[in-house]
Amino acid sequence: MRCCVIYFSQTGNTRQVAETIQETLAAQAGSCALVRLEDADPLLVERYDLIGLGAPAFYFREPYNVQKFLEELPDHSDKPRPFFFFVTHGGTPGAIASRISGLAARRGFVALDFYQCLGYDTYPPFASRVPLSGAGHPDLQDLKNAAAFAESVLNKARIFVEEHRSEGCTTPNGLLNRAIAGMFSHRALLRHMRTGLLPRKNLFKESCTKCGLCAEQCPTNVISLDPYPVFREEDCIACYQCERICPERAYKNNWVPFKLLTGEYLRQLLSKLFHGQKNPKP
Ligand SMILES: Cc1cc2nc3c(=O)[nH]c(=O)nc-3n(C[C@H](O)[C@H](O)[C@H](O)COP(=O)(O)O)c2cc1C
Ligand code: SF4
Ligand code: SF4
Repeated sequence: MRCCVIYFSQTGNTRQVAETIQETLAAQAGSCALVRLEDADPLLVERYDLIGLGAPAFYFREPYNVQKFLEELPDHSDKPRPFFFFVTHGGTPGAIASRISGLAARRGFVALDFYQCLGYDTYPPFASRVPLSGAGHPDLQDLKNAAAFAESVLNKARIFVEEHRSEGCTTPNGLLNRAIAGMFSHRALLRHMRTGLLPRKNLFKESCTKCGLCAEQCPTNVISLDPYPVFREEDCIACYQCERICPERAYKNNWVPFKLLTGEYLRQLLSKLFHGQKNPKP
């Protein structure tokens, strides 16, 4: 069976799970491709019998680039194809599983199963949590579980291909989670960025060395240097990787409204009081 694992990973958590699943599938099925979402054309899936997709939870749902990829998959409604997915998250995955499964189903990809585990969370406004959400994950046990998942999903795919049957998988589908995820549709998110709940990028030019690292690392390529970074906001997925990785800390984004509204200041104070002052190394 020709397998392919496609993944989006900003800080490496989902990549580790993707690599484990790919290695297991390669060992069991003979071969398995591993492709970053940034390099994946949706038509690529035509070359494989089993497709797996990995993503981190962003804003209680799949990141917008992952949504776009799923919506652009070739339509296989006439002849459904086997599919699986996996997710890493900081503790509140929300509606991501039901959304990925639903978006794939619309294009005729049947989710045979899914796997999810914790991943340490480096979202900038949460960076001073002690400990960081998901600190130390994915750990060895998470990766062992991912390998076992890969074996099991391969068996399910074989049954699907040979006997044309599958029970599909059940994903958590709570109304509240879906409502919260809806508040973070791409359009709503851009609105939040305009109104200030999520900060606009606030670049402090005096600190910027024009090194281009943020442009290189932006997962959706929306930063160009002119000669300082400029942004194509309509395609920004609000991941704040640019802020996170700038070696000069040139992004002075204003997280105060977000932290006030989400109770983050209080949470950070309490967690420092109860857990001490230091975060473990991710
Ligand atoms: C922009 C952004 C939003 C996030 N939103 C959520 C969330 O809603 N729920 C959650 O559990 N974790 C959330 N996280 C944490 C990530 O899902 C988690 O750290 C994940 O393992 C990152 O995977 P990666 O290293 O493959 O990018 C968020 C992280 C970022 C950067
Ligand atoms: S990473 Fe920082 S210093 Fe480098 S171009 Fe971007 S903002 Fe400027
Ligand atoms: S501009 Fe920054 S926040 Fe927007 S997608 Fe790129 S790295 Fe993420």
